[in-house]
Amino acid sequence: MRIYDFRSDTITRPSQAMRDVMYKAECGDDVYLEDNTVIELERLSAEFTGKEKGLFVSSGTMGNLLPLMIFGGIRKEIIVEKKCHILHYELGGVSSLASLMPVAIETEKGILTKELVSKVMNDNPPYFLGKTSMVSVENTHNKAGGTCYPLDTLKELYDYVNSKKVYFHMDGARVCNAAVAQGTTVKEISKYTDSITFCLSKGLGAPMGAMLCGDADFIEESRVFRKIIGGGLRQIGIMASAGIYALTNNIPDLEIDHKNAKLLANAVNESGMGKIDLKDVETNILVFDTFDKAEHVCKVLENNGIKTIVFDEYKLRMVTHRDISEIQVKEAVEIMLKWKSLS
Ligand SMILES: Cc1ncc(COP(=O)(O)O)c(C=O)c1O
Repeated sequence: MRIYDFRSDTITRPSQAMRDVMYKAECGDDVYLEDNTVIELERLSAEFTGKEKGLFVSSGTMGNLLPLMIFGGIRKEIIVEKKCHILHYELGGVSSLASLMPVAIETEKGILTKELVSKVMNDNPPYFLGKTSMVSVENTHNKAGGTCYPLDTLKELYDYVNSKKVYFHMDGARVCNAAVAQGTTVKEISKYTDSITFCLSKGLGAPMGAMLCGDADFIEESRVFRKIIGGGLRQIGIMASAGIYALTNNIPDLEIDHKNAKLLANAVNESGMGKIDLKDVETNILVFDTFDKAEHVCKVLENNGIKTIVFDEYKLRMVTHRDISEIQVKEAVEIMLKWKSLS
């Protein structure tokens, strides 16, 4: 039986062309700042985001943790969206390692606004209350179903947070998807952030790594914190070369993933297994309501070769990615459309 694995875009494997580049990559000791391939990836990422400097980190989680550690500390608060990755999937590092008290705002689509954030902003509190140190937004928002920040909403929020002298970080693990979906650039989106993390190992297809970009002082401090938590790596140019390949070659393909996500969303609605508003499918993630318990729908789909992830009692997530072509997505759609006779 052919397997169609829509659990995540993190399952993508390096292509042969990417492996060829990795095989030949020049490398050195990156803790001594002597790995020219890492230096090149960091330069390229800074240019890509319009920031002064970039830092290669092991994972998106590490890329988020470093700014949290820098701006965290006793009494400090971080404002985030309630379903964000930092709160749900980073094992509490925000509090245990960064000493930040999360202030979570519930939204339907994962998008924070100036209006919402201003209600919980504590930039100048009396001594007996917590003080807002930073705001972090997630773009695209994973648990909300790959939603993107409208640029004007982001700008308004960033300007407001900036006016309060509070730090603004973006968990842009999938910001390249947002840029492609919105017909803009990551540089344009990053203009409205102080720092941004983006992943190389999701839709872009690299085997590991993420980039943290920001101003030069911030990145130098992040480099110190990266070393403290064991993220100073040595001949890592082999991995950085995959990142360079991903950034240079794989971004336009994200558009295919977005089209494929819409095909799957249509199939969900037509099959009778669940429902999703097509307007909510902005990028490569769909989180849909199931009519039966999600565990059951997930199991039946898996019995028929289609892998998904249970997100809630009546919610499933599917993610499209470069390791499943349009033809294969259409094959999966054919299976989904037979939903009523599947077991
Ligand atoms: C929105 C978001 N942020 C951060 C991460 C963390 O990335 P990593 O798995 O590389 O630590 C993920 C991973 O799925 C994610 O979806």
